[in-house]
Amino acid sequence: MLSKRKGITVSRQIMDDQQMHPDATGELTGLLNDLVVAGKIISAEVNMAGLADILGQSGRTNIQGEDVQKLDVFANQTIKRRMEQCGHVCVMASEEDDDIIPVLDGYEGNYTIAFDPLDGSSNIDVNVSIGTIFSIHRRVSASGQGDEGDLLQKGSRQVAAGYIIYGSSTVMVYTTGNGVHGFTLDPSVGEFFLSHPDIKIPETSLYYSVNEAYAHHWFDSTRNYIEYLKTGGGDRKPYSLRYIGSLVADFHRNLVKGGVFLYTRDKTSDEKSEGKLRLLYEAAPLAMIVEQAGGRAITDDGRNILEIEPRGLHQRVPLIIGSKGDVDLAEKFLRGEMG
Ligand code: AHG
Ligand code: MN
Ligand code: MN
Repeated sequence: MLSKRKGITVSRQIMDDQQMHPDATGELTGLLNDLVVAGKIISAEVNMAGLADILGQSGRTNIQGEDVQKLDVFANQTIKRRMEQCGHVCVMASEEDDDIIPVLDGYEGNYTIAFDPLDGSSNIDVNVSIGTIFSIHRRVSASGQGDEGDLLQKGSRQVAAGYIIYGSSTVMVYTTGNGVHGFTLDPSVGEFFLSHPDIKIPETSLYYSVNEAYAHHWFDSTRNYIEYLKTGGGDRKPYSLRYIGSLVADFHRNLVKGGVFLYTRDKTSDEKSEGKLRLLYEAAPLAMIVEQAGGRAITDDGRNILEIEPRGLHQRVPLIIGSKGDVDLAEKFLRGEMG
């Protein structure tokens, strides 16, 4: 039981996770540890962001005379640079790159990674929490450079998923299928220490997260569900709205305190639209985490996020994710059983 041990670092926990997979080769361990390094680098940059501008004085260069990059470009390059040479990845997908991303020749490994290098871009320069989301699969092609088929695997086949949230502190949350653990970065020693052992999302909650600006476009099922949460009644307390606009921050709060997040289709969505959020590197990794923590993740027509076969790297998907009781209730409204 994790919670009994103190001062565990994320690297120690990743090693311990490896022991739970008898056929483990240590590759996943190496991959995750390189991802931890990327998280530390991005965290330092995020925390310097405003200062880099000020210290640079002239235009967009910092004191080292380097161009101050947009944080999402910096985060994307940082993760690609680490992953292409870690020797454990055969192909990558990033929200910031249209096509698949190869690794360095000679460094091909047995896993794939899909990632959102910086989620919450509307919040980047205003000191609101943002984050990196990642999803890891075992390759399906035999060897060498991977291909799109290695990436287009359904979420239930993920071997690991996680996120790093850059907020009042930097917290890494991940799962390899044996529960969900959170680690907080101590910048004074540059180490992530166990801070949230064995995370379990509360069964029900008092928070819903949705962009109410779209309320006049919602389908009746969505509107009735939200109204039901808001009004309470009987022994049900009314819910409060908490919406940050960074999926990773809204999700993390709901994971820790309980809550339900919705980004669904609405009357403005054409028949091809699947909402805004991406399956491969936003919905699927968070769905693995939430299920491992006892929650649920479905689409607005009741499909399990983890069972959706991806058709494209940047395929979008409607998302209802969070506390099991809240998502179960949403499902009832979607099916017309309530409302
Ligand atoms: P990203 O910054 O990676 O493009 O993701 C932004 C997403 C997600 O973080 C958030 O939940 C959603 O956009 C907010 O969308 P609205 O501004 O339409 O509410
Ligand atoms: Mn995103
Ligand atoms: Mn992004």
